[in-house]
Amino acid sequence: MYSARCILALALFGFASAQKETQEDPCKLKSRVVGDATYCDRYWECVHGQPELYDCPNGLVFAGKNKGVTEGCDYPWRSNYCDGKQQANSPISNEHCGWLYGIFGHETSCTRYWTCWNGTVTEQFCIGGLLYNEKTHSCDWPENVEGCQKHPLCNEDANGNVPLGKSCNRYWQCQGGYPRLQRCPAMLVFDRHSLRCVVPPTEDCDVPSTIPPPLPQDDDELDNIPQNNPKNKGKGNFPNLPPGAVPIPDKGQNRPRN
Ligand SMILES: *[C@@H]1O[C@H](CO)[C@@H](O)[C@H](O)[C@H]1NC(C)=O
Repeated sequence: MYSARCILALALFGFASAQKETQEDPCKLKSRVVGDATYCDRYWECVHGQPELYDCPNGLVFAGKNKGVTEGCDYPWRSNYCDGKQQANSPISNEHCGWLYGIFGHETSCTRYWTCWNGTVTEQFCIGGLLYNEKTHSCDWPENVEGCQKHPLCNEDANGNVPLGKSCNRYWQCQGGYPRLQRCPAMLVFDRHSLRCVVPPTEDCDVPSTIPPPLPQDDDELDNIPQNNPKNKGKGNFPNLPPGAVPIPDKGQNRPRN
């Protein structure tokens, strides 16, 4: 059946320019590569002057020469690659990966997910109160993630504020059980007794200095948040966020805003 389709496709190459639905000949293209007309996870490459049919790595679909994540192939959800086409290959899965290549939700956690690369699985973490969104395959604001369990930080009061370690400036605001990282307005400090931003001084916090103080303690405190990835210490960069993730702004409370 496979070779029959090859022959059929070869027969159709001649009509490529006349009929839109038929298979283009990669040997007539500058790129020497073209997607299969029927299957979005297959492509044709011109090899020694002859069109040859290739499969994308399992779980990926053809995106175009030098595009996608590997071999011209990409995650299917990143674009409309498969509109009007079928996938020829079926999933090769393991314990956590639905396909050999892909990004998949965690079985029991909304703040974790799996990245799979040729079947090798890596556990990833969403940080800063974000949750894994199955639709976008990335970490996202909790209100965009349906059906996820709420975070234990907000167990006591689903809509209350929660102190963030010893921070005088930052705190968690629970919204329907989902925590959002917040910052007190300039010149105010978070009061752990009234759970509000107040005019300093309080028991724990002095008037904020206008000279930026060294603030390593803020990051140390973030490390105590259970959903925070311990590998992501400080720095304000988020190496584990997949494409499309929304990182929480880090620090900058003494920087001018514009
Ligand atoms: C994927 O894994 C298989 C088996 O583990 C290996 O033979 C193959 O070379 C790998 N492919 C790539 C592109 O790394």
